[in-house]
Amino acid sequence: MANVTVIGVQWGDEGKGKIVDWLASRADIVVRFQGGHNAGHTLVVGDQVYKLSLLPSGIVRGTPSVIGNGVVLDPWALKAEVEKIAGQGVAVTPDVLRIAETCPLILSLHRDLDGLREDASGAGKIGTTRRGIGPAYEDKVGRRAIRVCDLAHLNQLEPQLDRLCAHHDALRAGFSEQPVDREALLAELREIAPFVLPYAKPVWRDLDVALRAGKKILFEGAQGVLLDVDHGTYPFVTSSNTVAGTTGSGSGIGPNAAGFVLGIVKAYTTRVGSGPFPTELDDATGQQLGERGHEFGTVTGRKRRCGWFDAVLVRQAAAISGVTGIALTKLDVLDGFDTIRICTGYTLDGKDYDYLPPHPADQARVEPVYEDFKGWSGTTAGARSWADLPARAIKYVRRIEELIRCPVALVSTSPQRDDTILVRDPFSA
Ligand code: IMP
Repeated sequence: MANVTVIGVQWGDEGKGKIVDWLASRADIVVRFQGGHNAGHTLVVGDQVYKLSLLPSGIVRGTPSVIGNGVVLDPWALKAEVEKIAGQGVAVTPDVLRIAETCPLILSLHRDLDGLREDASGAGKIGTTRRGIGPAYEDKVGRRAIRVCDLAHLNQLEPQLDRLCAHHDALRAGFSEQPVDREALLAELREIAPFVLPYAKPVWRDLDVALRAGKKILFEGAQGVLLDVDHGTYPFVTSSNTVAGTTGSGSGIGPNAAGFVLGIVKAYTTRVGSGPFPTELDDATGQQLGERGHEFGTVTGRKRRCGWFDAVLVRQAAAISGVTGIALTKLDVLDGFDTIRICTGYTLDGKDYDYLPPHPADQARVEPVYEDFKGWSGTTAGARSWADLPARAIKYVRRIEELIRCPVALVSTSPQRDDTILVRDPFSA
């Protein structure tokens, strides 16, 4: 099986964009299978920087790209992104991009609800991207979503609008908000439909044809396993399944098509938004990691929380997702630290844990157990072979492999595509 599935193995922002771009240049098709425009993937191609949220990363190189049914699609955000990258010389035609006809839409009422809930939650807020992701998934599961295929049947939308608006009007009333303006919503949908519909296709069929023809498919995950709605630090998670197992249900292929599961792992840990973070550093070291790593969210510009590498979390996330090998990113951010710490376990009320307990109160209280590592002098930035790395940096990578029980397939040493140490090619593994 020549396919590759790329997923984040921490809380997102592991540097998937670069790795996916690197792999996309050799894939026949790139597929997004979950999430929406809450994702932020930065691709550096030569002197151009592309910031993608919803579009699969293959698009910038003209690789056929698919938005699967597991994605929640904001058609206005899609249009804005298509127009933005058209300004950078990338044409997103229906020949290159295909969108599942069964994708649920994110509407303005979802964005409204996301914001209203966050504003009303005070200290308990999730810290969402306010893009309407959660409310859109709720409507999908609640069987009242408006989907891409409905855009071709707007004259038959009344009963669906009734159900959707009845639900949202009740919620809005709880926030002293006006009911949904149905006419305005319908007018917005009529206006956007001609833009979206040319891209709408039975993508499951295209993928079936591609699989039978032995094409190489790259499945591009968004966010990270620790934000998975089932396996993450619930309730401080996103509303989709971010694990590798979602490739099948999120795009309409079988579970065996995922291929090599490449987990993207940052050499330290970051998180945006609220929720537990056992190795978080609220001190000058955390600040230093953030500054060196340019840890600001691509989508919201928020400052990311930073901390040491947590081997417990990565081992757990890699096991849950069946990770075949990892791509270790941002190793160069650790250049020059005298001491680097790795979390190898937790204690809670005198008990040892080799996994993250499920209850949020326990997750907030676990104490990390650290192994201290002497840092390296010299730089790892731009290294393209093991021989370019300081010996102690190699030791750090080897220790991570050992602790997470997963081999390194790639090491990324700068945002530039070619600054990569290839240990095992996921496409020919
Ligand atoms: P939502 O996905 O907008 O509902 O946000 C839920 C949580 O997931 C928040 O903590 C967000 O900061 C986080 N999140 C969502 N998308 C990303 C991402 O692409 N990278 C990192 N964190 C994300």
